Amino acid sequence: MNNKYNIGIIGGTGDAGIGLAVRLAVGGHEVIIGSRNESKAKEVVNDIIAKYNISGIKGETNENSSTSEVVIVATPWDATISTLAPIVNNLKDKVVITMVNSMIYENKEMHSLMPTLGSMALEIMRILDSKKVTGAFHHLPAKNLLNKDKKLDYDVVVFGDNQSAIETTLNIVNSIEGLKGIYVGSSKLSFAVESFTSVLVSASILHKGHASLKLTGVHQG
Ligand SMILES: NC(=O)c1ccc[n+]([C@@H]2O[C@H](COP(=O)([O-])OP(=O)(O)OC[C@H]3O[C@@H](n4cnc5c(N)ncnc54)[C@H](OP(=O)(O)O)[C@@H]3O)[C@@H](O)[C@H]2O)c1
Repeated sequence: MNNKYNIGIIGGTGDAGIGLAVRLAVGGHEVIIGSRNESKAKEVVNDIIAKYNISGIKGETNENSSTSEVVIVATPWDATISTLAPIVNNLKDKVVITMVNSMIYENKEMHSLMPTLGSMALEIMRILDSKKVTGAFHHLPAKNLLNKDKKLDYDVVVFGDNQSAIETTLNIVNSIEGLKGIYVGSSKLSFAVESFTSVLVSASILHKGHASLKLTGVHQG
């Protein structure tokens, strides 16, 4: 498989966006990190180049980033819909991958919150009026993505309703060394996928680690 994409990351200046951008660029994709503030995005990219010595990443506004072939949403859950609303027209009819989890930190635990429609993926599908929204990367600890010495060895749960969008998402996940995309089903699974992140983050807090997922019983060979 040798599919390379132009990928925009909305809200890409946070740890999750930066960590993913670095791993995607290493995987051969062209990445645009998006921000509310273009100069912040450019500074973040300069820091990435200095730290990781890689090319293939640019910093732009969220709007410019949203013109990419494939777009990843990496905003905080409570800023997601307001961030996407002004750029809906750029996102219609393209593959949009959400990694957004709605959670709140309480009493040294992370608790999941249920958005009005049941998940952030369903909220995003509604505002974009699109079936090409998929979910992936929810369970990846950004700290491990950012650590260039960390060899990844995780499964990435992928959900979605549109076959070509699912295939594109799996291609992108599998292009990152150490990740294996596992399609689990439709967007009806999105709340379960998003909310399980609270279990992983709470375990990470309790055990002072960075928990992620490796499934058994679903790999071939
Ligand atoms: N961190 C992880 O380990 C991890 C792992 C998997 C999934 N996720 C999910 O990925 C998403 C991003 O996580 P993160 O830790 O990178 O988040 P973050 O650092 O809190 O936010 C990411 C970016 O969103 C933008 N942003 C912040 N507040 C905003 C607002 N009110 N309106 C619009 N944009 C705003 C900021 O970019 P600008 O200031 O440049 O606009 C910020 O750098 C979350 O939904 C999280 O649940 C995170």
